[in-house]
Amino acid sequence: MEDRPITPLPVVEDPIELLQSWRADAEREETQGPSAACLATVGENGAPAARMVLVKAIDASGLVFYTNTESRKGKELKGNPNAALVIHWPVLGRQVRVEGAAVPVSDEEADRYFASRPRGSQISAWASAQSSVLAGGLEELSRQFEETAEQFSGRPVDRPSHWTGYRIAVARIEFWRHRDDRLHERLRYVRAGEGWRHERLAP
Ligand SMILES: Cc1cc2nc3c(=O)[nH]c(=O)nc-3n(C[C@H](O)[C@H](O)[C@H](O)COP(=O)(O)O)c2cc1C
Repeated sequence: MEDRPITPLPVVEDPIELLQSWRADAEREETQGPSAACLATVGENGAPAARMVLVKAIDASGLVFYTNTESRKGKELKGNPNAALVIHWPVLGRQVRVEGAAVPVSDEEADRYFASRPRGSQISAWASAQSSVLAGGLEELSRQFEETAEQFSGRPVDRPSHWTGYRIAVARIEFWRHRDDRLHERLRYVRAGEGWRHERLAP
């Protein structure tokens, strides 16, 4: 971790490119999964709920994660697409906050990613009704997994229609860097027309 870097973060034209370069740094430097992020969604009652997800792609249109559309997060995003993601890279002393609407990825994009997953993960996407109550405990889950594995025996596992990706279209993004004495650096970008306006925030 850099100790109170003297040089301020330079203002960039495209903060998504900066995020991609921070992610590349994290892939080199972080000891634990650099793709982990905390995703917050909003429930019908206006209350937030948060959980970890893996950010599998970052491109000009946003940040992509994959999940079950019938899970709690899936239902909440259907009712209210506004979402927030927080990424923490502790070795680098960096945090990124992203806010924006979640848009389902295309079927082609979801199929492509699903096909790249290990077979066990593909089977569990069918076998686990994510976020539902498991009345029969872990035995029920194992049974569902074995039955699903049997159904797909000898053939590829296709993507369930209830399993896809969401892309958070970045409306705001804030870069945070650790500095000593809690004099951390914060640089926020907010979409403005075709470009971005930026502002430095007190830590
Ligand atoms: C590091 C980490 C990464 C995770 N990544 C995902 C993910 O990419 N997609 C997913 O559906 N759940 C992921 N999970 C599980 C979720 O945190 C959560 O338990 C699950 O999605 C159900 O959330 P929900 O009931 O709010 O929908 C991850 C958990 C951890 C600890």
